[in-house]
Amino acid sequence: MNNALSLDTVRLSDDGKEIILLDQTLLPNECKYISIKTAGDIWEAIYMLRVRGAPAIGCTGAYAYFILADQLETEDKQEFAGKCREQMEYINSSRPTAVNLSWALNRMHSVMLGSLESMSLPQVKKRLREEADAIYHEDIEISRSIGAYGFELLEQLGKGVGIMTHCNAGSLATAKYGTALAPMYIALEHGWDPKKDLHVYCDETRPLLQGARLSAFEMQSAGIDTYVQCDNMASYTMKSGKIGIIFVGCDRVAANGDFANKIGTSGVAIIAKHYGIPFYVCAPSSTIDMTLESGDEIRIEQRKPEEVTEMWYEKRMAPEGVGVVNPAFDVTEHELVTGIITEKGIARAPFKEAFEAMGIRPVEKFVDGKV
Ligand code: MRU
Repeated sequence: MNNALSLDTVRLSDDGKEIILLDQTLLPNECKYISIKTAGDIWEAIYMLRVRGAPAIGCTGAYAYFILADQLETEDKQEFAGKCREQMEYINSSRPTAVNLSWALNRMHSVMLGSLESMSLPQVKKRLREEADAIYHEDIEISRSIGAYGFELLEQLGKGVGIMTHCNAGSLATAKYGTALAPMYIALEHGWDPKKDLHVYCDETRPLLQGARLSAFEMQSAGIDTYVQCDNMASYTMKSGKIGIIFVGCDRVAANGDFANKIGTSGVAIIAKHYGIPFYVCAPSSTIDMTLESGDEIRIEQRKPEEVTEMWYEKRMAPEGVGVVNPAFDVTEHELVTGIITEKGIARAPFKEAFEAMGIRPVEKFVDGKV
C-alpha cells in the first residue's frame, strides 16, 4: 500500500502548463493522477471532489488562476484583468463553502492587480506562478505547525490515546500533512509507536465516505492502529471511554468561532459535549473568515440527491421520487468547541478576541461564498 503522505495531492506539471491532481474519487483502490488545463476540467475536478479538502482546493484554485491567466493571449492589460476576473468567478462557483478557494483566488487576483501597472504581462504571469507556489509551500508549513500544536495536546493526554475524526482533513486535503490528521503524523516523527500509542477512529462520513476511503487509508498506510465506524456509531464509541480527544478540520470559521465542516460534524460535537470529550477544530488562519459574524452567514453547499440514494450501491436503495436532503456541510456552534488549533496557536473562547490577538483580520474580497 502506498504511504498516503508520499502522494502529491496537487501540483503543477514540469512545464507549468497543467495541474496534476491525484483523483481522490478512486481512492483507496486506485492511485491515479489526472492532468488538466481547461477551466471546464478544473471546475469539474473541484465539483466532483477529485481534489477536495479546503486547503487543497485553495492550492488548486491558485494554480488554476495562474495557468488560465498564462493561457491568455491578449496584450491589452485591461482585457487581461477582465478575463482573469471572469475565470476566477467561474472557478470559485465550483464549491462555495470552503473559504480557502475564494481566499486563494482573491489573493491571486490582488497580486495580479498590484503588479499590472509596473510589470509587463509576461512578468505578471511569472509573478502569479510565484504566488501560487508560495500558497502551496505555505500550506505545508501551516499544516506542520497545526500538527505540532495538536501533538502537544496528545502529549498531555499521554500515549495510548484514542482519537476520533470526521471526514478527511489529512494530507490528501492539503498540500501535505493535513490539519486534523497532522498531530498523528507529528507524533510518529517524535517516535510514538503507531500501533500502541495512537488509536484513530474514523467516521465513515456519509454520503461520500471521505472518512472510510481517505482518512482510514491515510492512517492505516502510516501504520497507525485505525478503525472505521459508521457515522451513527460515534456515540457508542465515545461512551465506551476509548476516545480521549476529537480533531476535525473545517471549511470556514466565522469570527465568533462557529464553523462549517463536513456534514455530520455538528452531531459529533454535540455527542462529545455530552460525554465531556475535548473537541478541537483544526483551522489554517486562511479558513477564518472575519467578515462573517456568525455561522448563520456561511453558505452551505447542497449536492445532488443521487449521492445519497444511488452512489456506492449496486442498485438504487431508496424509492424513486422520494425527497432527499443532501447538504455537504453543517455549522457547529462555538459553544461546543474546546479550542481552534491554528498555525499561530490554539484559540479558545471568546474566539473573536483570540483571533484578533493572533493578528487575524478580515481580508479584501473580489469573490466569495457568503449566504
Ligand atoms: O467535501 P470535502 O471532502 O471537501 O470536505 C472536506 C472537509 O469537510 C474537511 O474537513 C475540510 O475541508 C478541512 S480539510 C483540511
